[in-house]
Amino acid sequence: MSESMIRVSVQRYRPELDEAPFTQDFEVPYEEDMSVIDALHYIKDNIDGSLSYRWSCRMAICGSCGYMVNGVPKLGCKTFLRDYLGKGITVESLANFPIERDLVADIGDFVEKLEEVKPYIIRKDAIEISDGEHLQTPAQLTRYRQYSLCINCGLCYAACPQYGLNNEFMGPAALTLLHRYNQDSRDQGRDDRIDIVNAEEGVWGCTFVGYCSEVCPKGVDPAAAIQQGKVESSTDFVLSKLRPRRSK
Ligand code: SF4
Ligand code: FES
Repeated sequence: MSESMIRVSVQRYRPELDEAPFTQDFEVPYEEDMSVIDALHYIKDNIDGSLSYRWSCRMAICGSCGYMVNGVPKLGCKTFLRDYLGKGITVESLANFPIERDLVADIGDFVEKLEEVKPYIIRKDAIEISDGEHLQTPAQLTRYRQYSLCINCGLCYAACPQYGLNNEFMGPAALTLLHRYNQDSRDQGRDDRIDIVNAEEGVWGCTFVGYCSEVCPKGVDPAAAIQQGKVESSTDFVLSKLRPRRSK
């Protein structure tokens, strides 16, 4: 291998051809600012046009380029070959999701879970446009802002051992999204979401490994959101013993 080349090992799986996923090695010209996505583009443009992988923005915003890089969930556009010099680099599809083709994971279950948590502002008393803006104080914004930074990349699901064992578990990003709306002073939908929080597959399915927060590329800290959800769930349990269950 010439000094300016680097070997990139890529998981391949074409369901019409391959019985099982396998690894294929490619030699890619190395440049210091080359990301994993750049390497995959080089392979697709110059060596094998059939390589399949997801990407879009190339700036850690769209959340589509999640892969396992040397076994760790990473964004391909935010991960650079220079950090793997001398170690070798292997790119695989996101763990804990079925493989659709090459590096494309089937994240349908994750997307369904995001929808399930009612990720929108629910109002019991409608506000008319003529009433003006629904203002928030900086302190009210701070309560949920961090949790609103999620880009739905799914890295936290690939990192979560509980989701890996049981995909009925709602998982880090969906529970964080739920918490984000519960913390929003404009929202009145907490009671509509509490059964999801309290369920066995809700916050109590989390054993607080915390790896989800470690791999999150946006600093969302889903583990913290879930632990706060456990406090809410416990409060709900105590209140339910003191007064009749709130009507939905
Ligand atoms: S919480 Fe972080 S790791 Fe999980 S989907 Fe959102 S941005 Fe990705
Ligand atoms: S390509 Fe959009 S997050 Fe990486």
